[in-house]
Amino acid sequence: MLDSLVLHDFRCFPRAEFHPAPGLNLLSAPNASGKSSLLEAICVLLRLQSPRAGALAEAVRRGAPGFSLLGRCGDRNLACHYSSAEGRQLKLDDVPQGKSDAYLGVGLAAFFCNEDIELVRGTSSKRRRFLDFLGSQCDPGYLKNLRAYERALRSRNFLLKEGPHRGRELAAYDGPLLSAGEYLGSARTKLCEELRPLFARYAAAISAKDEAVSLRYERSGGHDFPAALAASAEEERRLRQTVVGPHRDDVSLEVDGAAAASFASEGQQRTLSIALRLAQAELIRSRRGSPPVYLLDDVFGELDTERRRRLLQALPGDAQRILTTTTWQWLEEAGDAADWTIRDGRVEMR
Ligand SMILES: Nc1ncnc2c1ncn2[C@@H]1O[C@H](COP(=O)(O)OP(=O)(O)O)[C@@H](O)[C@H]1O
Ligand SMILES: [Mg+2]
Repeated sequence: MLDSLVLHDFRCFPRAEFHPAPGLNLLSAPNASGKSSLLEAICVLLRLQSPRAGALAEAVRRGAPGFSLLGRCGDRNLACHYSSAEGRQLKLDDVPQGKSDAYLGVGLAAFFCNEDIELVRGTSSKRRRFLDFLGSQCDPGYLKNLRAYERALRSRNFLLKEGPHRGRELAAYDGPLLSAGEYLGSARTKLCEELRPLFARYAAAISAKDEAVSLRYERSGGHDFPAALAASAEEERRLRQTVVGPHRDDVSLEVDGAAAASFASEGQQRTLSIALRLAQAELIRSRRGSPPVYLLDDVFGELDTERRRRLLQALPGDAQRILTTTTWQWLEEAGDAADWTIRDGRVEMR
């Protein structure tokens, strides 16, 4: 649970503070007041990853040298400082951290946004990123293997681009690529198997329809990665890049036996993407023993009244939830939610 957040030079905020309540937090403010930036800051603080930007540099307030995020999470203090000059610097309980492992062990997050529909209809990279965000929160060895795989892949692709004369050097990276790749392939397969029933349950809960939805991890080269890599040597030389492996894998999503990307309506696709996020959060809880902070950025605007209601109901009552929108006028009953707004760059109680 996040008790407090202080931002310096993050996006539009020169300095701001936020002290979310333990349960439901509703944040409403006009466009461009900083709602998405605030949720992004929470995600970066807890997971060191921006759900919007590819690089943390984008989140630095224009004209500033870097940003700082300080937060209290349970009884731990997190601090993340980023500048282009010094890169990322982390502190856990005021102790500088060379590695991110212990830091990332503190906070869990699930981020929902409008662009999540791309999980269903967008390119496979979106779905791999979804699994990586999940894997890094569920499995202590995941991130290490992902980074090792990416390093080996970069080196291999560099050598393949250089041309056939670098063939012998290429083989030196096969070992690291295969071992990290096997790890990722089986970890992701297992994540998808565990996601499947949760995904089906949430899809039914949000749509209130009895459609058969399914989800499956698909390996680009089949189940034998070493054999697939060896068999692709010819194609690699021709295309000058590594053509099989976890960086090409995908998650197939189906509704009543048909590919969701091509056959589901936009409304269905949106429902499926929300169900994926809810399943992701649920799986984090079951693997880690406590729920992530639910961050929902402006997802209600695109839903009809019934789906809004069902989504609100699907969010677990014992989790910290921070929801943004431009207006809560449609909300009949918010219970004992904390009601926030942003005025002149300050987060305030309404
Ligand atoms: N790196 C940045 N530096 C300064 N301002 C930024 C930066 N990135 C985005 N902004 C501005 O922050 C404001 C708030 O954006 P956003 O958080 O998306 O608002 P909301 O979600 O409330 O619509 C926008 O006016 C945007 O132009
Ligand atoms: Mg926004």
